[in-house]
Amino acid sequence: MLTFKRALVAAAFFLVVFFLTTRSHTTPGTALLQDQKDTAAAASSTGAVASQNGQSIASSSQGSSSGVGAGADAHELGGSDNVGGQKTLHVPDLSKMTLYDKLAYQYPYDVNKKFPAYIWQTWKYTPANGEFQFREQEATWTEQHPGFIHEVITDAVALKLLRLLYAAVPEILEAYDALPLPVLKADFFRYLILLARGGIYSDIDTYAIRSALEWIPESVPREAIGLVIGIEADPDRPDWHDWYSRRIQFCQWTIQSKPGHPILRQIVTHITQETLRMKRAGELAAFLGNNVVEFTGPAVWTDIVFGYFNDDRFFDMSDSNGLIDWRNFTGMDAPKRVGDVIVLPITSFSPGVEQMGAKDYDDPMAFVKHDFEGTWKPESERHIGEQQE
Ligand SMILES: *[C@@H]1O[C@H](CO)[C@@H](O)[C@H](O)[C@H]1NC(C)=O
Repeated sequence: MLTFKRALVAAAFFLVVFFLTTRSHTTPGTALLQDQKDTAAAASSTGAVASQNGQSIASSSQGSSSGVGAGADAHELGGSDNVGGQKTLHVPDLSKMTLYDKLAYQYPYDVNKKFPAYIWQTWKYTPANGEFQFREQEATWTEQHPGFIHEVITDAVALKLLRLLYAAVPEILEAYDALPLPVLKADFFRYLILLARGGIYSDIDTYAIRSALEWIPESVPREAIGLVIGIEADPDRPDWHDWYSRRIQFCQWTIQSKPGHPILRQIVTHITQETLRMKRAGELAAFLGNNVVEFTGPAVWTDIVFGYFNDDRFFDMSDSNGLIDWRNFTGMDAPKRVGDVIVLPITSFSPGVEQMGAKDYDDPMAFVKHDFEGTWKPESERHIGEQQE
């Protein structure tokens, strides 16, 4: 496990390399080390803003979109023109952009990039702390993913990390700060870290059964996929609404993504705007725990995924036979691809639940095992919440 500080130094190092390789003179090794130290020092105070801009400009100038689901993206934002053989950058005025466009500029989506080798988890303590009670679960992620950077992030570190990643989008930080319950912050954090950095988020009480390198079927090219999600619930019974808020519910305890995916951009925009609206209206103090599923949890996650599947900015709807809805995902026992999204069957992220068609832990499609033990929101609490709707 890398510490946060080492990750920062590594980030600073890549920045320096990027900076040096884009300038056309050579620098002796000692100067590189000196630069690296300086940049690391800067990054730990304010320099990360520059790093974000550097990264956005660098990747958007390569042109971001190709492939299904990646269209209508950030390609006009911060694009570059060839003027007399010189590249000039248009740096847009962020203050005049919508929140959604700011996020697209800050973290552009490029489906052709690799899935980043990060595993993000959050808990009250890091594994170095004697109180940490998920050592066994945490170890399975490390064992299944050699070479990945695996971080267990505490509340205090989450706050610092978000301040670095979203310094240019202050409304995100205001919304995170305003969220009245730890469970809401924990939900919001997973979308924010995946939007900015990509990789895998998984709740701390999950075991990795199979490596994420095996999650996408071999027949599907990795450069065509930007998001991998699983099914939490597929309650095929008349009283399903007594138990779940959506007929098909996508889970958000484990998600794999490339940075900047439009679904993440959309959910971050939605939660931010909704939180700030409630804050201005003075409604946050009275927020009840049983609304979590709708506000930041699997219900709103599911709605936003379906919204994306039916959004003509991303999908050519002209030859489709109607809306994509729960009917397209009920009873699935093999992965299904919709544009740049892979939806895994219920067995993959919810094996062993002995209902809704989920198979057992030893099934070849069983990828993670979720305990709901140390989760921020016990399932019982969530279901009570759903029953009261
Ligand atoms: C979804 O299901 C509808 C019928 O309910 C079908 O017309 C459509 O082609 C399906 N789309 C996908 C992407 O599976």
